[in-house]
Amino acid sequence: MTEFRDHDADAKDRQLDGVRTDSRGDLTTDNGVLIDDTDNSLGVGERGPTLLEDFHFREKMTRFDHERIPERVVHARGAGAYGYFQPYASLSRHTRAHFLSDPAVRTPVFVRFSTVAGSRGSADTVRDVRGFATKFYTQEGNYDLVGNNIPVFFIQDGIKFPDFVHAVKPEPHNEIPQAQSAHDTLWDFVGLQPETMHMMMWMMSDRSIPRSYRTMQGFGVHTFRLVNDRGEGTFVKFHWRPVLGTHSLVWDEAQKIQGKDPDFNRRDLWDAIAQGRYPEYELGVQLVPESDEHKFDFDLLDATKLLPEEEVAVTPVGRMVLNRNPDNYFAETEQIAFHTANVVPGIDFTNDPLLQARNFSYLDTQLTRLGGPNFQQIPVNRPVNEVSNNQRDGSGQQLVHRGHTSYHPNSLGGGCPALADANAYRHYQERVDGVKIRKRSDSFQDHYSQATLFYNSLADWERAHVVAAFRFELGKCEDLRVRERVVENLNRVDHGLAVQVASGIGVAPPATAQVTNHGRRSPALSQAGQAAD
Ligand code: HEM
Repeated sequence: MTEFRDHDADAKDRQLDGVRTDSRGDLTTDNGVLIDDTDNSLGVGERGPTLLEDFHFREKMTRFDHERIPERVVHARGAGAYGYFQPYASLSRHTRAHFLSDPAVRTPVFVRFSTVAGSRGSADTVRDVRGFATKFYTQEGNYDLVGNNIPVFFIQDGIKFPDFVHAVKPEPHNEIPQAQSAHDTLWDFVGLQPETMHMMMWMMSDRSIPRSYRTMQGFGVHTFRLVNDRGEGTFVKFHWRPVLGTHSLVWDEAQKIQGKDPDFNRRDLWDAIAQGRYPEYELGVQLVPESDEHKFDFDLLDATKLLPEEEVAVTPVGRMVLNRNPDNYFAETEQIAFHTANVVPGIDFTNDPLLQARNFSYLDTQLTRLGGPNFQQIPVNRPVNEVSNNQRDGSGQQLVHRGHTSYHPNSLGGGCPALADANAYRHYQERVDGVKIRKRSDSFQDHYSQATLFYNSLADWERAHVVAAFRFELGKCEDLRVRERVVENLNRVDHGLAVQVASGIGVAPPATAQVTNHGRRSPALSQAGQAAD
């Protein structure tokens, strides 16, 4: 049996010990001045006005006034936990990433689960995608796998993301509806952008109302790239599989729980960890040699497609255990900053246009959300290995950099780091050639085949749930033309589905089938059949 080095798993915990604090001793101001009365402001006489010179009152109130920071523009509501990841065997044939190459290493992690559309105070059990974001605090820097619980996404190109999110979020004039997919703007976007169809099939299935974060799958969604120490690349799709199995609520339960316990998923995660019933997930990979890039009947760079497991099996590579609740929600769960561009040597990107957009967006939004360029110094975001560079100053700077130089190249010494050696991150050397053009390849144009595959993979009762969900959500649209357009798109997925949905929402059922491509039953997709066990 492999002997693991548990000090690796504890590296983040030990680092946090340096900043953990308990309120003890006598009350002081932020300046450390002792205070003996925090109930009465300083006034003129016993019934007179309050004095501006009451520095304790002003500080106490100012600090309170500024307690809130902007919530995340998406995925605002979340719950998180610490734990560790440990590989089963070395993956060094495909990647030089240390945390995937040594079964003796336990890497500390922080995972944040989230809903997407609702605000920070919204209910947990809404119909929505769930985020499944993991920060691995590796000895080679932080690696973030910022995934979701559904293996595909709504859009192919990140430039559509602001439009998509504006359509999903509450309408701007009255901020209604909050965290529900039942409104005209979402369905208007869906009808006009048929690439959303595959994801919408998953969304209307029980996958979008998970019973627990402990019983939820996770997916990296994009095709990423592993790179080994010879510089050879392999395409990879990441999967998290919950050891407890994948389980969902049914819609009636989900709605009732929203009212009775809006913290249902958050509480379940916290209680399970507090009681020692640690959630576990297995990490799996689908590997595709570079030479097979064009072998599939969809484009590997298209995030609206999954890679069927009947074509490429998922290989289990390691296990993650979540075994520690955070000490402070704001300091840790709220201030953690995930970013798809946080990669370590051995993991690289592909030209998936959704991924490329994300690689810009996360850092950009965090500069605002977390108040400036030094948010990586917030304890939960700090790597466990040493950080050393010429980045300086900026609001929120916590470090006292010593030395009289902060530039490169530099012959004077004085505190500047040297360039790294063989362990440095090196980008995969991919040949790229082409004209500048705003057009997506024809290989991205089939928006229906995998939506059909998904529907074909469902059991009868699961299909009934999908039909009911479409009727419930789409049936709330006030604009009849919006409903009709979605039904027309559904008719390209499955004629029977379109007829059933149409007849429940006052739309004329399509007379003939429009389906052009017809789906094999994929074992990968049929796993969705377990979604609501
Ligand atoms: C959060 C942008 C697609 C998963 C966020 C945030 C932004 C964002 C701005 C808030 C980050 C923060 O304030 O810290 C985008 C853009 C996308 C995109 C521009 C497409 C171009 C996706 C996809 C996935 C995903 C495809 C899943 C594979 C997440 C998760 C979070 C998140 C899990 C929450 C992270 C956390 O828990 O803090 N996204 N996103 N996003 N996104 Fe995306």
